[in-house]
Amino acid sequence: MAAIARITRLAFDKTSGEEVEMVARIRASPEFIPELSLVAEVNGQLVGHLLISLETLRHADGQPTDHAVLMLGPLSVLPAFQRQGVGGALIRRGLSICHRRPEPMVTLFGHSDYYPRFGFRFAREFGLLPDWDAAMVYLLQDDLSAFRGLHLPE
Ligand SMILES: CC(C)(COP(=O)(O)OP(=O)(O)OC[C@H]1O[C@@H](n2cnc3c(N)ncnc32)[C@H](O)[C@@H]1OP(=O)(O)O)[C@@H](O)C(=O)NCCC(=O)NCCS
Repeated sequence: MAAIARITRLAFDKTSGEEVEMVARIRASPEFIPELSLVAEVNGQLVGHLLISLETLRHADGQPTDHAVLMLGPLSVLPAFQRQGVGGALIRRGLSICHRRPEPMVTLFGHSDYYPRFGFRFAREFGLLPDWDAAMVYLLQDDLSAFRGLHLPE
């Protein structure tokens, strides 16, 4: 856990520790899925970490719905190991595990020029909210029409 916190802190390069706290909070919660906590190792050193956890879509007023989804993030790669395919490898492995699960989609808020290469699409294409470029979904089932008008978890 200390290694994961270190990778997260150094990757995000911020003093707030927001993402480090997010990882700790999710790991201690019922939303944590151990098989979707992934690390990347290079020459015996942990250099990357990806967490995908359970969440629920939200109503317009922020209240949770009964619709469970998977949420991707935080994703962290040590600065010295970025742009070498580590993040991509973690995402591909994580998504392959997600395909064996019952949830209809993986959601995230992230760089809209990074995630589409892995199959993520804008949430608004499916009537999901918010209408931001950063709000993206990866389909685990063909038809998401039952979820129109609902908000991604944040
Ligand atoms: C984003 C991050 C996880 C990507 O991991 P990575 O191992 O560097 O990514 P990969 O090597 O698989 O892919 C590299 C490609 O991703 C893209 N990319 C990487 N970081 C990016 C960023 N911050 N914004 C947009 N695109 C980015 C680039 O297109 C890059 O290709 P290029 O080197 O040819 O330009 C990593 O840079 C990181 O930890 N960043 C800090 C934390 C963060 O922002 N996490 C994600 C929050 S949404």
